[in-house]
Amino acid sequence: TIQPVILCGGGGTRLWPRSRRAKPKPFLPLLGERTLFQKAMDRVGDAQLFAPPMVVAGEAHVPLVLEQGGDTLSIIAEPMGRNTAPAIALAALRAREGSVLLICPSDHHIADEAAFRESAQAAARLAQDGYLVAFGIEAVSPHTGYGYLRRGAALPGGYALDAFVEKPDLETAQGFLADGRHSWNGGIFAFGRERLLDELRTHRPEMARLCEAAVAQGAQDGAVFRPAQAPFAEIEGESIDYAVMENTTRAAMVPVSMGWSDIGNWDALREARGGASTGPHELRDCTNVMVDSDGPRVCVVGMEDVIVVVDGDDILVTSARRAQDVGKLDGVSRP
Ligand code: GDD
Ligand code: MG
Repeated sequence: TIQPVILCGGGGTRLWPRSRRAKPKPFLPLLGERTLFQKAMDRVGDAQLFAPPMVVAGEAHVPLVLEQGGDTLSIIAEPMGRNTAPAIALAALRAREGSVLLICPSDHHIADEAAFRESAQAAARLAQDGYLVAFGIEAVSPHTGYGYLRRGAALPGGYALDAFVEKPDLETAQGFLADGRHSWNGGIFAFGRERLLDELRTHRPEMARLCEAAVAQGAQDGAVFRPAQAPFAEIEGESIDYAVMENTTRAAMVPVSMGWSDIGNWDALREARGGASTGPHELRDCTNVMVDSDGPRVCVVGMEDVIVVVDGDDILVTSARRAQDVGKLDGVSRP
């Protein structure tokens, strides 16, 4: 079986005011009734294919994970955020020897779950052959917030990668899009446990050492494992993309088509919702206007490409085009 590792960290401030420090994006029911974290759990719920998931989350969010996650999971509580490479390393160190880890972010929407499961199996097979496998999404714009996968030689069910380039600048991304050899990195990975740990020891020996120390001195408390704070605090935070994927010579990818969307801002969320408004609202002569209100009635007349969100005492009004900049508001850092 495949060992799912669900990553629950990061701020998600671009979805303010719904997403907040105390209850960030993964723990919100942004699409339907289940939260993004619960949907990530649901995707790996087939016990024929997947072992009970490990969830890696910040200490502050452990109560939310327990509340939303049910009772089959095990949790690794990070004393502080050090980005995804250490989070994944902790999970690898705690996982059973010989297992294949399936790294699942909890900030995505995936429409076609059957396609996801199929790709997970294809990726796991390549991981068993010693590859570090990314899920490749068809690139449709020169997005600079994604990693890019350069396809090389064909492999069973996928491709070896000639390069993995994390978050290129716009010009580079435009070149990648034009040459037709690149896919987006979906942020979902399959790694053989020992292969991943070996790569980390090679490319980030200090990080590997500190993670090992944090696990060796850690403590189990019910479903929650707490790595020791002192060594973990010393780690220089870095994502798995920079720490390992850009450096390994054994990267591969499986091309997937599963209705993937990184719900990175309100405009992307609007698209994933098919433009539908929620909460009390009235729209007159509007085009591409979405309202999301948790109480007050929002009435909009004669506007185009606007998103309005009401959450408690906070109201956000943004043009759809500028939704990416919501995270820059001073207001997002208030509780
Ligand atoms: N537990 C834990 N601890 N989880 C974390 C941490 C951390 O310190 N930091 C981030 N995460 C979680 C996030 O909640 C998210 O689910 C996932 O790890 C990925 O982190 P992001 O911070 O959202 O990464 P990104 O979106 O900038 O980039 C990654 O995803 C893109 C696709 O969405 C990269 O893998 C890109 O290459 C990729 O294209
Ligand atoms: Mg993300």
